[in-house]
Amino acid sequence: MKHSLVFLFLFVCSCKAQDKGTIIVPPSQTISYLKDVLKFKFGASVNPTLLTGNIAYRNLFDNEFQSVTAENMMKMGQIHPEKDRFDWIKADIIVDAAQKNKQRIHGHTLIWHSNIPTWLVNFQGDQKSWETVIKTHIQTVVQYYKGKVDSWDVVNEAFNDNGTLRSSLFKEKLGDDYLAKCFTWAREADPNVLLFYNDYGQEYAPAKLQAILNLVVDFKKRNIPIDGIGLQMHININSSETGIASAIQKSAETGLLVHLSELDVAVNPSVNENFVYDDQAKLKQSNKFIYVFNTFRKIPTGQQFGITTWNIGDTDTWLRPFKKTQKEFPMLFDENYKRKAIYEGLYKAVQL
Ligand code: G3I
Repeated sequence: MKHSLVFLFLFVCSCKAQDKGTIIVPPSQTISYLKDVLKFKFGASVNPTLLTGNIAYRNLFDNEFQSVTAENMMKMGQIHPEKDRFDWIKADIIVDAAQKNKQRIHGHTLIWHSNIPTWLVNFQGDQKSWETVIKTHIQTVVQYYKGKVDSWDVVNEAFNDNGTLRSSLFKEKLGDDYLAKCFTWAREADPNVLLFYNDYGQEYAPAKLQAILNLVVDFKKRNIPIDGIGLQMHININSSETGIASAIQKSAETGLLVHLSELDVAVNPSVNENFVYDDQAKLKQSNKFIYVFNTFRKIPTGQQFGITTWNIGDTDTWLRPFKKTQKEFPMLFDENYKRKAIYEGLYKAVQL
């Protein structure tokens, strides 16, 4: 009862605040969880060091999310450091923690042009030996996590923004049809795991979006297994809403599952060191998060695989090291892993 009154009070305050175009609702930390009001799974990418070493982070991991993606620890460079050695230790920390919480585990990623171990870069052989080596990687990892990992990003970021196939070691050594081979090998290793193609930029690069839609049509025609499309959704406060809607809706029109797999909303895209995270920036960010969630909610329920944020709090966002700035605040949780006001705005908006 007391809980509902607090919520009602916050709701009234926030309506008034939104009328004036400013956010004044303080983060209460007392409302129910976002995951409880969503009809799809809400997830985050995580790293094992924070999971085991930071109580506030762990608390959010345990309570806020129903789906978990390893930010880095299932990538080839980490999990397969030598040709004949796999290193499961760090990925297993994440998997064990998620299993304890009965969270869904999304595997990221089997094949990516980045994060390739040196042994593979230096590998010599004909196309047949390359196929053996890549097939072994995919099948060893998928089989190891069979029954634990529910879904895999089989191939990540294979297309350029102009829709052409990106040059990569895999394209060079396995040929232009390497995606079909990788998906087929993954399916052979686990007939029940869900297989995703994952990429960024579908919301601003229509040619890339079209190339991915064409890939799905081609796979279906040839009976190549694919279950879902991942839209990373690394966006910012100025990202076009028409572009976001088009990417989500057209991906859904394939009939496959849709995963907003790496969501964050950057507030300082031009990396201004004098940037101030003020009410205006927060309002724009809040509106963008709400737009993404509400657009996703409009696709058929059965295709809503989930929305995963890339990292949890502003402290651990990949954008800070990547852009070499501390002046970026793209997450729903702040530097102390407390809910921000935008979390509460989102919580209310997705119930309407
Ligand atoms: O752990 C080392 C540290 O010991 C060292 O001092 C430091 C110096 O550079 O590097 C640290 O490793 C970094 C690692 O992140 C952990 O922070 C790597 O250099 C850095 O390359 C790595 O970046 C990751 C990136 O993928 C490349 O693998 C990011 O954390 C991760 O968030 C990012 O995730 C990608 C998705 O997989 C695919 N979509 C885009 C997304 C963002 O780039």
